[in-house]
Amino acid sequence: MCGIVGYVGHGDTKEIILHGLKTLEYRGYDSSGMALMSNGEILVEKKAGRIENLEESMKGKNFSSEIGIGHTRWATHGVPSDRNSHPHYSMDKSAAVVHNGIIENYQVLRKELEEKGYVFSSDTDTEVISQLIQDMYNGNILDTVSKVVKRLEGSYAIGVLHKNHPDELICAREHSPLVVGIGEKENFIASDISALLKYTKDVYYLKDGDIAVLKAGSIEIFDRDEKPVTREKKYIEWNLEQATKCGYPHFMLKEIFEQPQAVKETFEKRVHNGKVDFSDVLNYEDIKNINKIYIVACGTAYHAGLQGQFALQKIAKLDSATDIASEFRYSDSFIDEKTMVIFVSQSGETSDTLAALKEAKAKGALTIAVTNVVGSTISREAHKTIYTMAGPEIAVASTKAYTTQVTIFYLLALYMAELRKVISKEKYEEYLSEIKNMPEKIQNILDNCEKIKTAAEYFKDRTNGFFIGRGLDYKVAIEASLKIKEVSYVHTEAFASGELKHGTIALIEEGTPVVVIATQKNLIDKSVSNIKEVKARGAYIITVGFDDEESLKNVSDNFIGIPECNDMFSGFLSIVPLQLLAYYTSDAKGIDVDKPRNLAKSVTVE
Ligand code: F6R
Repeated sequence: MCGIVGYVGHGDTKEIILHGLKTLEYRGYDSSGMALMSNGEILVEKKAGRIENLEESMKGKNFSSEIGIGHTRWATHGVPSDRNSHPHYSMDKSAAVVHNGIIENYQVLRKELEEKGYVFSSDTDTEVISQLIQDMYNGNILDTVSKVVKRLEGSYAIGVLHKNHPDELICAREHSPLVVGIGEKENFIASDISALLKYTKDVYYLKDGDIAVLKAGSIEIFDRDEKPVTREKKYIEWNLEQATKCGYPHFMLKEIFEQPQAVKETFEKRVHNGKVDFSDVLNYEDIKNINKIYIVACGTAYHAGLQGQFALQKIAKLDSATDIASEFRYSDSFIDEKTMVIFVSQSGETSDTLAALKEAKAKGALTIAVTNVVGSTISREAHKTIYTMAGPEIAVASTKAYTTQVTIFYLLALYMAELRKVISKEKYEEYLSEIKNMPEKIQNILDNCEKIKTAAEYFKDRTNGFFIGRGLDYKVAIEASLKIKEVSYVHTEAFASGELKHGTIALIEEGTPVVVIATQKNLIDKSVSNIKEVKARGAYIITVGFDDEESLKNVSDNFIGIPECNDMFSGFLSIVPLQLLAYYTSDAKGIDVDKPRNLAKSVTVE
């Protein structure tokens, strides 16, 4: 949801900001822009559309500068256009601002400023910030920004340049992510560390209410009362290679192919000498009085939670429920100190998930975050955090984050089952070995993906389709359906196989693709009947099942086999060909797979 970046130092400011913007483009790609301090003036260059448009418009122009800020936008207030692109000047061009977040009281502020004679040149909420900086400027830029942000309601991470402070980059945050990168005689700001990896791995995560003043040789951080504070310096383990395509045509494909490694690393981080270890997060004392577990998340992370619920119930015999974060907040769920709530979020910044977390915490629940980003807001807000080891996920469509989240849930279920003494030693070992074998089995699917391309060729010319499954397979169907919708724009719906005939089957006509996931062994016969029901009405059947399942092969137009495993764990595998189906369909349609329309990776607005 918008990315901001900033630089101060003696490097090539324009190029450093462009690089940062390209890395952050997944956060929004409606427009981009930058402001550079040059010879005592702030120059602003901004363009609607992709960053290439900005790059093109800056070609051949001399922008020598040692300080600048940049922005890539996911439009909220005001249509995507040059005029609504950031940075936004103040009326007298003394200040320029980039912003990620939403200023909820911007209309009141705008009216007040307009009454004073300020003329606005955009429809955005952000412009009130730059105008307020002009209006409230008192010669001290730290004090001015501090007073300005006190007038804002909502969320913000901002980068500010001011003409009278030509060697200072000022930033502030409240409910939107912001990280400060520490360099050698140069310093940086960014919405997310991936923009900084090329230059530094040492960072400070700012806390809500913090304001930082960066010069080439210094970083000063202040709290909301302008008192100097120190923040812990963190070293980021991710490397630049992980954040580049490495020869793959798209990040999504690269990330799908990284799943064996990502699942393996997530497993190895938590399993030592044949035992699952979450003792840094939970012990028996923590869970002995817990009588309900909620799993709360959005989108794909929510779908991983559905598999998590299955694992916690089946393996740890714990009463659990999964809810969508934006619903959970307002659903008056019964939560008290006997409730554990697990919040799942790849980015650790999703606004609805964060708000639900704060609510659950206030009601006394034990809160656990499962996230991929070290130091993210959700990781800091929860009582305890479990990190997935997916590495940076750049493609908008989540893939490896999902499978690593699923890995965490299954390991957690085993860990809790043992703490609760509800699992035998034999079963514990058998289940652990199933999880351990998953990377190799996922690799096997990736090595044999030709049939999936045929299915994608079929899908690419369709406008509608269905994904059906029973039990665990239904949970995977929901994620598979989202994947194809978001990257290939084919409208699909996921249904519990038995439910389709209660109305929706009316939509099946000659050629409608129906993807059947059928791995639950005790339900195969029922799945075969469901296939026949839709096939009799003209459906084209693509089935994902275990390699040797002849009864399914016989009734399918395209059968995609996955390696044999205990069917309680099949969700690790059945999703992989369907991620590829979404990818290949999108690619065959010529869609920009990594940046599908209308989306942004990190949804930091409600
Ligand atoms: C879909 C996708 C989204 C995210 C959702 C939550 O491919 O990526 O549905 O899963 O926006 O994001 P996080 O996990 O960052 O909280």
